[in-house]
Amino acid sequence: MQIEVLVGDITKLNVDAIVNAANCSLLGGGGVDGAIHRAAGIELLEACRKFGGCKTGEARITPGFKLPAKYVIHTPGPIFKDGVHGEPELLANCYRNSFALALEANCESIAFPAISCGVYGYPKMDACCIAVREAKSIATRQAISLKRCIFCCFNEDMARIYREIININP
Ligand code: APR
Repeated sequence: MQIEVLVGDITKLNVDAIVNAANCSLLGGGGVDGAIHRAAGIELLEACRKFGGCKTGEARITPGFKLPAKYVIHTPGPIFKDGVHGEPELLANCYRNSFALALEANCESIAFPAISCGVYGYPKMDACCIAVREAKSIATRQAISLKRCIFCCFNEDMARIYREIININP
């Protein structure tokens, strides 16, 4: 599995699955959650309603509807408090559970936003270290459907952090 970093709008990516940094209601919100729901259309909200919510760190998969992506994987990240209230493990679970659903759906490509790095206030460097660690863990597995994992950043500053972490220990 190839790990890539790009700067752009995740709703525009033509990949098998994009991951949504959702909240536990799964009923949409601001940030990337709002962008994904706006781009996917009302059917996404209707599909999400059926889940009756989702715990932090868990993940749910829906079709992408009007998005170029085939699927949306919704995962509520942790709200950062002080780093000693289980946030690192919960954030790691967002990536692990999103990868698990993507593999179950035989996805060849997946794109992640920087989960919890916006409204939820997770320190960016720490969050990206967790994201890259989990992607590298999947990348070591053989015979999986996933060929591409993209970290889709909304700005160059975020992309720089991911690239720095990935290049430290390639
Ligand atoms: N494409 C890619 N990345 C984006 C996009 C986009 N269209 N829009 C925002 N981002 C980036 C932000 O710049 C940030 O780096 O996604 C990252 C996550 O930020 P948030 O969307 O604020 O998500 P998060 O910090 O996990 O907070 C989730 O915010 O929007 C609400 O409903 C959501 O309550 C939930 C909370």
